[in-house]
This record gives sequence, structure tokens and C-alpha cells, in this order.
Amino acid sequence: MSSTPRRVEHHQTDRGYVPVYATGVVEQPWAQYSQTDHQVWDTLYKRQRELLPGRACQEFLDGVERFGLGDGGIPKFADLNKVLGETTGWELVAVEGLLPDEVFFDHLAHRRFPVSWWIRKPEQLDYLSEPDLFHDLFGHVPLLLNPIFADYMQAYGRGGMKAFAIGPEALMNLTRLYWYTVEFGLINTKDGMRIYGAGIVSSKGESIYSLDSASPNRIGFGLERVMSTRYRIDTYQQTYFVIDSFEQLFEATRPDFTPIYAKLREEVPHAAGDVLDSDRVFTRGNREGWATNADT
Ligand code: PHE
Ligand code: FE
Repeated sequence: MSSTPRRVEHHQTDRGYVPVYATGVVEQPWAQYSQTDHQVWDTLYKRQRELLPGRACQEFLDGVERFGLGDGGIPKFADLNKVLGETTGWELVAVEGLLPDEVFFDHLAHRRFPVSWWIRKPEQLDYLSEPDLFHDLFGHVPLLLNPIFADYMQAYGRGGMKAFAIGPEALMNLTRLYWYTVEFGLINTKDGMRIYGAGIVSSKGESIYSLDSASPNRIGFGLERVMSTRYRIDTYQQTYFVIDSFEQLFEATRPDFTPIYAKLREEVPHAAGDVLDSDRVFTRGNREGWATNADT
């Protein structure tokens, strides 16, 4: 870790007794996991590991293998950090859950990835409304072994600090970029359309829907297009944006966003399901089953 977290207090939470630091960081309380917790990990792991070959991109699958995420039971962050330390220099830090934006950005900018240490209950295998260990670790961490994606995540953290200083509209534009890439991104490979978004690979239902369903749009990635598109947090996505490569994503996001934020402020954002004349459309969704209430 580049800076030692300052211990501020101990917290008695409904998940047990853990020290909390100003950075939101805790020790992963590995000994506190129950047999049930380990079984939930194993069940979710097995399910996704069987489903994802031919669906997730190779970089993601390689990362899962390299980390040994299926060795049995909940992985120890310290073991995963050895692998990360030898490759891209990222470090996992355990947290209680979602962090304030500026704290989250600061972690990413310093190549620390916050991972919720607790795991969902057996009755929540298919859905829960906040990110848990399975989403954060299985979903996000494998791609941190890819050098370009690893650099993208750090650049995003730095960009986040900047957007935070500019204001809430800029932050919303940047959050949409994260949503449609890091969380729900698809990638067009020589072998076909593949998943790289963490929100998809950690969900059985969306791993199938995002590639196989006729409902959603699949549209070529464009920076301003994505930053001006609202999204849904309560249903599968109405639109997935497709990159050609991680290099493309990294290069597209390299320019200074300050003038883009200023420009987008003058424009009305697109609805989640909109298809524009200027879009490069891979598939146009048939909109079946779409909610009609407002997007975020
Ligand atoms: N280039 C962006 C900026 O100037 C920073 C950024 C990089 C944001 C990569 C997201 C992803 O704000
Ligand atoms: Fe996530």
C-alpha cells in the first residue's frame, strides 16, 4: 500500500466487529467467514466458470485462472495481492461497501481496488442491490491483470478526482462511462462478441441476456455517446456499448475531458434505450420487456 491507512475507529456492524480506517479500508476478516459463506462463493464461482467460456473475453478468463479463484472457498486478498504485485502492481483493499466518490477515486488513482469483504446470503445468489465480495472480486479483479485495463482503471481514478472538482454534472458524465464500460461493457473480438463488464460476468442472468437476448441494443462505443446516455440500475441494460479493444478504450479516454464536460452540459442526455442515426448498430433491440419508467 502506498500510504498506511489511519485507523479512526472500531465499528460494530451487522457483519461483525472490524476496524474501519479513514480510507474505508478494513482487514479482510477471513476467519469470520462461515462455512455457508465459503459455499456461496464456491456455488457462484462454479456457475459462472461453466457459463463464461465463449461468453467472457479471454483476458478475463485468463485472469480468473491465474488468480486461482476456484481453488475452493473465499480467496485471501493477501494471496491475490502477491499475484497483482508481480504483474500490474495493483492491490486489493477490503472495504465494508460503497465508498464516497472521492475516496473511491483516490484508491483507483493509487492502483488500489476496493473490494467489499462480505458475501451475499444463499437466498441472494441471483440478485442483490449492493456490490458484495463476489461482484467486486470475481467481477472486477481478473481484468486488473491486463496491463491496458489496469492502466485504464487508474486513469479513471485520476479523471474522477478531476470530475469531482468540476462538479456533479461532470461526475455524472464520468459515472456513465464507468457504467457502460467497466460494469456493463461488451467487446467485439475476432471470435465474436464477448463480455468484459464486471456487472455482467458476476450475474448469471445478465451473462446470458447481454449476448443472447433480442431485447437490448448493442451499439459501437463512442466516448461522448456513452457519457451522455442515462442508465438503469434496476433492470438488465437496454443498451450495451461495444468496444473493439482495450487499446481503443484507453486511447478514446486519453484526452482532457474538461471541454467535453462543458459541451455535454448544454445537451439533453439520451435515454438508456435510444438508438441514434449516428450510431454504429451491432443489433437493434426489439425492446421486449423494457420498463417504461424513467432511467437514472
Ligand atoms: N482523460 C480523462 C480526463 O481528462 C481522464 C480519464 C481517463 C477518465 C480514463 C476516464 C478514463 O478527465
Ligand atoms: Fe462494480
